[in-house]
Amino acid sequence: MILANEAPPRTAIKVLELADIRRMRSQWEPRLDTRQMEQIVATSPGRSMWSPRSGEVIVVGEWRHRPEVSSVAGVHAIRDVHELMRASVDQSRRLGASAFVAVEWDERQRPEFYQNVGLDLLDVVIPFEAPATAAGFSTSHQVHLVQLDILDSRAQLLAVDHAAFSWLWVNNAAEFESYAKTAGAEVWAHHHQGRLLSYIGFTYFGDWGHIDRVAVHPDAQRQGLGLELTRLAMQRMARRGSRTVGLSTQAANWKSQRLYDRLGFRRSSHNAYRVYGQVFRTSLIDEYSPATLAVTREA
Ligand SMILES: CC(C)(COP(=O)(O)OP(=O)(O)OC[C@H]1O[C@@H](n2cnc3c(N)ncnc32)[C@H](O)[C@@H]1OP(=O)(O)O)[C@@H](O)C(=O)NCCC(=O)NCCS
Repeated sequence: MILANEAPPRTAIKVLELADIRRMRSQWEPRLDTRQMEQIVATSPGRSMWSPRSGEVIVVGEWRHRPEVSSVAGVHAIRDVHELMRASVDQSRRLGASAFVAVEWDERQRPEFYQNVGLDLLDVVIPFEAPATAAGFSTSHQVHLVQLDILDSRAQLLAVDHAAFSWLWVNNAAEFESYAKTAGAEVWAHHHQGRLLSYIGFTYFGDWGHIDRVAVHPDAQRQGLGLELTRLAMQRMARRGSRTVGLSTQAANWKSQRLYDRLGFRRSSHNAYRVYGQVFRTSLIDEYSPATLAVTREA
């Protein structure tokens, strides 16, 4: 019997092992299939959790190929969702991760849910779209842009990326390696006196194209490079047959939104998504401070 002022017993939550997934096969019809779950648990062992009482699971992997940041890949839980989420956050902290991130891709929880499990709202990401031809077909001819081999230029791309993005959105070498394997992806850049100062990455999907990332080193911002790179991406995709170009950017990133607005981008009908999380090691934020400071100071 539990007395009124006694805390209810905590549900036993366990680390999800590969063997558990195999045992669960008959019970579950999860959104992540068994193979995907196994792959995540094999790559990021110890981060995913399950509840033996309900058989519910939270699958946790790496955030954009960054082992130092845990990221929820799938939640198959209702009854024990709070306990599972809290246990996952604690477990990642125990394992030495720098941060934990949960993105609301298609499932929404109330903000109180995240508050309850110790996660703050880190960012809101808004999708935009434009007709691919909106940028026209003329370039300024003042800015010389070249296509890069992503793997060969990795070190220079990383340097621009790290100077331009905040900790949450910065890309690492593994992310660039994975991007290099993406069918239809191209990276173009501008160099000044041999130094790579800005780049854009975009992917051609046929009728539709997507601008994946654009970064200009803080030393070279506000000189029209972002505009030229984005225009070039739209033109290349329009020439190959894309009719619409999509992208997404952070709600507070007004610099990028002004740039996209100038090229005809408008908010798309796709849902914005929220990123919740907890930073365990605050030096992570300082490592990528220029962009973070620029956005918060001027927002
Ligand atoms: C967003 C970003 C790519 C813009 O690149 P940029 O080369 O500085 O932009 P441009 O000089 O081409 O500016 C294009 C337009 O954007 C807007 N803009 C860009 N930076 C601005 C700033 N600091 N203040 C006001 N407007 C700005 C303006 O409308 C500008 O046109 P204008 O100069 O004729 O007024 C750059 O700030 C950056 O790399 N930021 C960090 C990474 C990032 O946020 N990437 C995009 C999100 S995924």
